[in-house]
Amino acid sequence: MRQIEAAVTANNEVMPGVYLTWMESPQLVAQPGQFFMVRCGGYFLRRPLSLHQLEGDRLAFLFSVVGKGSYWLSQRQVGDRVDLLGPLGRGYSILPAAHNLLLVAGGIGIAPLRFLADVAVKQEKKVTLLMGASSKVNLLPEEQLSRGLLTDGVLPWNINIIKVTDDGSEGLKGLATDVIVNYIDDTDQIFACGPVGMYQALVRYSHQFPKLKSVQVSLEVRMGCGLGVCYGCTVKTKMGLKQVCRDGPVFDLEDILWDELDF
Ligand SMILES: Cc1cc2nc3c(=O)[nH]c(=O)nc-3n(C[C@H](O)[C@H](O)[C@H](O)COP(=O)(O)OP(=O)(O)OC[C@H]3O[C@@H](n4cnc5c(N)ncnc54)[C@H](O)[C@@H]3O)c2cc1C
Ligand code: FES
Repeated sequence: MRQIEAAVTANNEVMPGVYLTWMESPQLVAQPGQFFMVRCGGYFLRRPLSLHQLEGDRLAFLFSVVGKGSYWLSQRQVGDRVDLLGPLGRGYSILPAAHNLLLVAGGIGIAPLRFLADVAVKQEKKVTLLMGASSKVNLLPEEQLSRGLLTDGVLPWNINIIKVTDDGSEGLKGLATDVIVNYIDDTDQIFACGPVGMYQALVRYSHQFPKLKSVQVSLEVRMGCGLGVCYGCTVKTKMGLKQVCRDGPVFDLEDILWDELDF
């Protein structure tokens, strides 16, 4: 973990209220699912954002504008400097024995899964990305998905993308969790990022598929420090109390006591 003064190199609204911000940083080693605590202007608390892409000395965040901090970040111009702390936490881990990976994104949950997809493709895994959103306009456009490191000459970004929208305006109609069953047969590992309701549906599904080696989910809770100091992010797990910022944000689905979550 380090503190970085990263310079903004691009900042664009890629979906309504959702920004993709690229920054120049020193070369970093990071795991998909790890996050940075971002100082947003004069606000005392830093805001956690997942690493969306990492490409040499450039990194990207994909974020929704929901309040003052994310609004501040959305207004940064090329050349502005942003104070980052990270990479933090424990990210997703791909089992060496897993070949067929199913990535399930609910809404802005696509943010860390893009980086995971890049890493998985480099490891020559077979990747299916199930991307769910309320409507067509809230699905990350394909030109954004296919842009970056892998299409700039390193590897083709060759994954199977399944789109699902609540209103049926693009792809399949329904919730991402409604259609998981269609893609799960050959799946060795599931990686998910989305709302808690999506994870609770996964709890119900995963028992039906004994072939699945693991299901990992990223928990989004309000964070004070992001460093294991304030205990503001504590959750109950089968192994006792855990801090999302330090022991997570990625956990095994089966380890979380879902009925006792209070967020
Ligand atoms: C590990 C981690 C990774 C994250 N990665 C991303 C990401 O890649 N992209 C992204 O868009 N968001 C991500 N988030 C959520 C993001 O941190 C919050 O949206 C952000 O902190 C809001 O700051 P704000 O100042 O704009 O809003 P605030 O003014 O602080 O709050 C505005 C509203 O957002 C809600 N809110 C604030 N923080 C959170 C939170 N952590 N979870 C749920 N609701 C919250 C508040 O309850 C309030 O209703 C992540 C959260 C965590 C814990
Ligand atoms: S956010 Fe402070 S301990 Fe996790």
